[in-house]
Order: sequence, then structure tokens, then C-alpha cells
Amino acid sequence: MPKYNIFVTRRIPVAGLTLLKKQGYKVKVSPHDRVLTKSELLKEMKGIDALLCLLTDKIDGEIMDAGSPRLKIIANFAVGFDNIDLKAAADRKLFISNTPGPEITESVAEFTVTLMMALARRVGEAERFIRAHKYRGWEPMLLIGQDLYGKTVGIVGLGRIGSGVARRLKNFGMKFIYNSQHRNLDFEKEFNARHLSLEALLKQADFVTLHVPLTRETHYLINRKNIKLMKKTAYLINTARGPVVEEKAVLQALSTKQIAGAALDVYECEPAIDCDLKDHMELRKLDNIIMTPHIASATIATRSEMSVTAARNIIAALQGKTPPNAVKSE
Ligand code: GLV
Repeated sequence: MPKYNIFVTRRIPVAGLTLLKKQGYKVKVSPHDRVLTKSELLKEMKGIDALLCLLTDKIDGEIMDAGSPRLKIIANFAVGFDNIDLKAAADRKLFISNTPGPEITESVAEFTVTLMMALARRVGEAERFIRAHKYRGWEPMLLIGQDLYGKTVGIVGLGRIGSGVARRLKNFGMKFIYNSQHRNLDFEKEFNARHLSLEALLKQADFVTLHVPLTRETHYLINRKNIKLMKKTAYLINTARGPVVEEKAVLQALSTKQIAGAALDVYECEPAIDCDLKDHMELRKLDNIIMTPHIASATIATRSEMSVTAARNIIAALQGKTPPNAVKSE
């Protein structure tokens, strides 16, 4: 059997690495627990058959060429794959794969609902209030928020995660509207849901939750113009990808109370929280926002599942098969 070399750009749960080693592959994990620089990654590409990379690694044609002629697959440890130049990969006949799976769907859906509840009931503000020694006793008007019960949730992107969010919220007594490329009649029936244009959804939803991949079409899907359509009492939740939302538009809408609140797990210029350094801290100064550091899939079970999924994709590619989670060029 040929000796295959795998490079993993950062420490990940061992389950997937064990699987790769069981195949007799030589697995090297980056010794640095940080994002590699481009020149570091270029060096590591030499002589490898498969790259297991993360959403924080920008993979372009130059990186791919550095792995030539042996490189067969770039296995992304993420559901999203906007960090990889798919066209460059297709030109070079390289497999690209991602890590969808039952665990990650549930983790991200669960975290999205966590953020919705935290927003509606002002959990972040309440916690900061306690820490600032402001609590003097029960008050009828203290930190009153909103119920999810009876409200309308607008789901933008009805894939696995969007549907997982709906499944959870059904028991909360919410009403459903959604926007997606294709209508899903089974979903409409089961959830008594209406398929709407994005504009109509933004006008009607009390909670707008985003579950689309980042593509040319979804870049700035929520922007300065259409955020104005949202109700003053509405909330925006983004656990998808930062650039799906024009962050300055959110900043402005929150500062002027044009919308009631937002929860962001992802950022336009990640890991920076504000793209424009002049705006440094602006989002952080607001009370009506909850910000988390891209952790929607961060559970032990999910990260372990992702490492196994990435490994299975690599094994398939090195056995000359199409990986189960091969991603196609746009
Ligand atoms: C996380 O953001 C992922 O795409 O898996």
C-alpha cells in the first residue's frame, strides 16, 4: 500500500486522527495551536496527499499547487467552505469536502435557539447587571423582555440547520415563515409555514435567523437597505457566516433602535469584531446585542463527529473514491 501523508493545520479531536492512523497514513498535526501563516502552510503542503484544514485557513490555488502532484483532497473541518477557492480546486481536479452531519446540525440549531432566547429575555444585560452590583431587589419593570411564544420566526435558508431550528421552536408555540431557493411543501404542511420573499419575511418576522452558506449571492443578504424593512421590535440572529450581513448596517440599526436586538456568532471581518478600526468597540458598546466567538458548533460530540467526517472524506479520496461529503464548484 502506498504511504500517504496527511497534514492537519491545527489540533482537532483525536477520533478522526485515530481513524487516519489506522489506515497506516502518516499524520502530521501542526505543532502551533494557532492559524498558520501562508508561508508556513505552503511549506507543509510539500509531499502531502491530503490536507485537513479549518475554516480559518484560506486555501487558494497557490496553496493547492504547493501540494502538487500528490495532493488529492482538501478536507475542510467545517460545514461552510467559503475559505476555499472551489474554482481553483476544480481546475486542478482536487476533491474538496466539508463536514455536515447529524451532530453539527443539532448543535448549531440548538445554539441558534439559545441566542434567540438570550436576546428576547436580555440574559446578557441581566448578567452584566448582576456583575456590576446593580441588583437591589425584585422590581416589576426590571429588565423586561419578550416571549418567544406566539411570535413569528423568519428562517432564511431552510437546509438541515434551518429546519432543526424550526423543529425546536415548534414546541415554543411560534409561527413560521421562511425564505429559501426552493419551496418545501412538507415543511409548510408540518409547520404551517409560509414561503415568502426575503423582503416580505423581513417585514413580518419578529426573529430573523440566517442559515445560508456564504456565496456571491448571499454576501450582504442583510444590508443597509433591507434591514430597514425589519420591525422595530424584531431581532436578527446570525450563526451562518459574518459577511452574509453588512455589519455596519447592524451597528446602525441597533444604535438607532431601528431593530430591537441582534445576536452574532460570526463576524464580517472575523476574528475582528469591527471591520473598520475606527469603529473599534462600537458593537461592544451596545447593550442590545449578544456576541459570541463563532462557537455554534462547539460541543464535544460535534467537534468529534467533524474530525471523523473529515477523516472519512480523506480515506475515500485516497482510495480513489468520491468523498461522501464532496463539495462541488459553484
Ligand atoms: C462552522 O462555522 C462551520 O461551518 O462548520
